[in-house]
Amino acid sequence: EKSGYDHYMLKEIHEQPKALRQCLRGRIDDLDGAVDLEDLADLDHEGPVQFVACGTSYHAALFGAERLREAGVRAQAFLASEYASDRVPIDDETLVVGVTQSGETADTLRALREAARAGATTLAVTNTVASSAARECDHTLYIRAGPEIGVAATKTFASQQLALALLAFTLGDGPTREELEALRDIPGQVRTVLETTDARAVAEEYVDADAYFFIGRGYHYPVALEGALKMKEITYRHAEGFAAGELKHGPLALVTEDTPVFAVVTGDGETARKTIGNVKEVEARDAPVVAITDGESDVTRYADHVLEIPAVGDLGGSVLANVQLQLVAYWVANLLGRSIDKPRNLAKSVTVE
Ligand code: M6R
Repeated sequence: EKSGYDHYMLKEIHEQPKALRQCLRGRIDDLDGAVDLEDLADLDHEGPVQFVACGTSYHAALFGAERLREAGVRAQAFLASEYASDRVPIDDETLVVGVTQSGETADTLRALREAARAGATTLAVTNTVASSAARECDHTLYIRAGPEIGVAATKTFASQQLALALLAFTLGDGPTREELEALRDIPGQVRTVLETTDARAVAEEYVDADAYFFIGRGYHYPVALEGALKMKEITYRHAEGFAAGELKHGPLALVTEDTPVFAVVTGDGETARKTIGNVKEVEARDAPVVAITDGESDVTRYADHVLEIPAVGDLGGSVLANVQLQLVAYWVANLLGRSIDKPRNLAKSVTVE
């Protein structure tokens, strides 16, 4: 049931406020000012964390690893298909976290099984109750996004981001009151983005571009990768995501006046300043710049278009910026008449290695 939307993808993008509220429900303890994950009541872990995941879930894993490191936990993200427990240090102090919305992705299951054999504790972060990952892992954290029909992962990515933020507050430094409030505010801010977005106009402007580039740093780096993946898979157009600092190490050669660059910039600290430096580099090559920003910095001066998000810091900002990029990809694909819910050559759940 598409509830009046033309595609499941658009419906699921609009379901994100609800999905995120469900992800948070009962998991914030106001009295204690703490995150309380009942799913993980019997997980007591102090060692390093390794994430394994594929595709969109890998982007969530990169985000999760960054968040865990910020919370003081040693954490790394691996592509499940490249993960080999005999080539990374792993022992019974290691927690290996499979991020998989379906819980059935063959590469991720293989990596988790290998990690378990090597003595690691395993945790599935999944949307699917009683999936293989949930059944096989020592622990399971449900993201509670609700069913997702569109092949392109949208609300499951946002819910993974939020669930991994909760996990970081559980395994690492606990949250401040402000951080808890900020988490709780995210669903409402996603709604604001959905109500105010100019993504359709941006898509109309750039539907005929040669290629689309996405840049970001820190929490926004995985969002740049995810923005590009969404664009590729549903529009069949060339799109690439880069860590903003990497542009000048090669990809800048591809930048022309026909390659819009989507730059995610929040706040006005060091990270923002550096990304703005990269924005100036592409602007000097006449590339159109679309800034996804909270307006805290002067990036808008160098941008041809602005996709605004509320000012909520880098963590929440990355969730909100991603929603804008989902919508740009959706509208480009829509204008091109693509098979949005079932892109060619792709399956919702990839059960072969
Ligand atoms: O079910 P999983 O999260 O393990 O799936 C992994 C990838 O196949 C998946 O995230 C894929 O990249 C997305 N559907 C793309 O939108």
